[in-house]
Amino acid sequence: MRQRRTIILAAVVLSLGIAFAYGARSFTATAGAAENGLVPGTASVSGTVEAAAPFKAAQVHLLNTDKNVLFMVYTSGGRYRAVNLFPGRYEVSVRKAGFAADARTITLTAGSTRTLDFSLRAQAAEQLRQGEFGFTTQRPGELRLQSYDELYPQGPGRIVLEKTCLYCHGKNFFPGKQYPEAQWNHFIDYMLGKDNERGAMVPAGTLSQADRAALLGYLVTNYGPTSEKRGLRAATDIPLDEATLGKAMYVEYYLPIDPKLDAGNKQRRTQETHFDPSGNVWYTDRSVPNRIGRVDPRTGEFKDFMMPEATADPHGLTVDANGHVFWAETTGFSLGRLDPKTGSITRYPMDMTGQRKGRGHTPVLDSKQNVWFTVIVGDMLGKWDRATGKTTLWNVPTLGAAPYGIALDRDENVWFAEFRRGKIGKFDPRTEKFTEYSALTQPCTIRRLGVDSTGIVWYGGFSSGKLGRIDPKTGKVVEYDIPMPFAEPYDVWPDRQDQIWISDAGQGGALIRFDPRTEKFTYYPTPQITDQPKLSITREGAIWYAPRSSSKAAAGVLYPDVTKMTTLAAYE
Ligand code: HEC
Repeated sequence: MRQRRTIILAAVVLSLGIAFAYGARSFTATAGAAENGLVPGTASVSGTVEAAAPFKAAQVHLLNTDKNVLFMVYTSGGRYRAVNLFPGRYEVSVRKAGFAADARTITLTAGSTRTLDFSLRAQAAEQLRQGEFGFTTQRPGELRLQSYDELYPQGPGRIVLEKTCLYCHGKNFFPGKQYPEAQWNHFIDYMLGKDNERGAMVPAGTLSQADRAALLGYLVTNYGPTSEKRGLRAATDIPLDEATLGKAMYVEYYLPIDPKLDAGNKQRRTQETHFDPSGNVWYTDRSVPNRIGRVDPRTGEFKDFMMPEATADPHGLTVDANGHVFWAETTGFSLGRLDPKTGSITRYPMDMTGQRKGRGHTPVLDSKQNVWFTVIVGDMLGKWDRATGKTTLWNVPTLGAAPYGIALDRDENVWFAEFRRGKIGKFDPRTEKFTEYSALTQPCTIRRLGVDSTGIVWYGGFSSGKLGRIDPKTGKVVEYDIPMPFAEPYDVWPDRQDQIWISDAGQGGALIRFDPRTEKFTYYPTPQITDQPKLSITREGAIWYAPRSSSKAAAGVLYPDVTKMTTLAAYE
């Protein structure tokens, strides 16, 4: 399933004349970066950013061109400070919608402290579209962008489309199709399960004959052969809290471009990150040929391990206490294992006797180092037992659930998201019993979930834009509105302080912190336009992510407060 999101980072600044009256800058706030405790052997850069019109939280991009590592900080009160930078050559630029400034080149040595000031000039804000979800990246200006009501004219057909189709396909799918009636009719059958090896997408009994007729008419009228291909314009003005953002820093380690990849597919595609016991970060790379890779965040050094099957399509991964890396393959249905010391790869194919089909998704380890994993196609939960080497598969209760994200609670119950049926499942390994909880907003899709230290389960309503909270003790489910329209919470993962981190591509890419006590959402827009399918958080509270649909493939990390940073290494 593909989704597209559009984003206008700001309206064209037409009223610059008025803005001049506000003056260039204010220096009341400080950038708040670390004054001491810098990581040894690194450098820092600070300075001012001024403009003739007021602005908030401009992004200062410091690209180390020797190592191909980006450091990004925000301005606060017109000042910025970037710390813990690798020595080397840098290209420094400032990005803010509605403004432009020339990039500067500097060279930093270990221990150096540089000052670099910028002056922004006004420039029409570019209309940006978010990358086509997870696959190729859509460049700005390719499509005509329209509002939701223009893309989806009011009427009975729209209501059927919203409750039957849109929650799975997202808001950019249908306006991107120009099918004749017979084709739409065929796809409705296909979604109802006809000749579909994945089974029914639209659950049986949820589309009446009258609704089907209304839907077909609506599809042909609005997305027929003579319609224009369009995309959603989501006017966005992300709330920016400068005082908080002034302390934050993003770092993105760009994967080397592989000249061996075929011309149309040079861009690599990271999916999920995880830490090993030595502070390295591992990732799955789904570009073909597939690999499992590692970056040492202290040096920016990469190492790739080619997978035995170039198109096995590794998805989630995890690392055990010995540093062995496990992943789930979605093609061929095997669990993979890499011993980085020897480079040897073992694959554990699943026994599919009596099963219709299986595609693995995300693995997670329990305290005995057994590997639990979701099976997205085939509606199963699996366990690879370390002691016996045997794998057991259980069918989840709901047909068409598409088990996706997975997490264990303190009692080692296995929690998983039922992606296509808007539920959260719990499996008790002692009783082998499943319990299901429905999201409040239905229908919806849920990709991932996390469990905090008190046992509360948090999930993202990907299609509904809600943050969900389940209290397993009472069974009570609560949902919070994520403040921006068209939010797409993908992963939802707590840090050690039980602050909930959300990855959201709905506004073009942001990590969002939710404080359950104050119920406040704080946005940290990402350096690139992207989604971030999975978060992993270090014990120091650094949030790692894989910018999957970005134009540059990377392993990325957000340090919410650089004053608390002690290392660039990543430890669980
Ligand atoms: C539960 C999620 C879900 C729902 C609900 C759903 N779809 Fe789909 N749809 C999918 C998935 C997944 C695929 C890709 C399946 C495949 O290729 O086997 C798909 C494929 C399609 C395709 C073909 C893809 C293409 O590129 O043209 C069309 C058209 C389509 N759906 C239309 C619809 C319509 C119309 C509805 C409502 C009647 C609907 N879908 C409801 C998940 C869903």
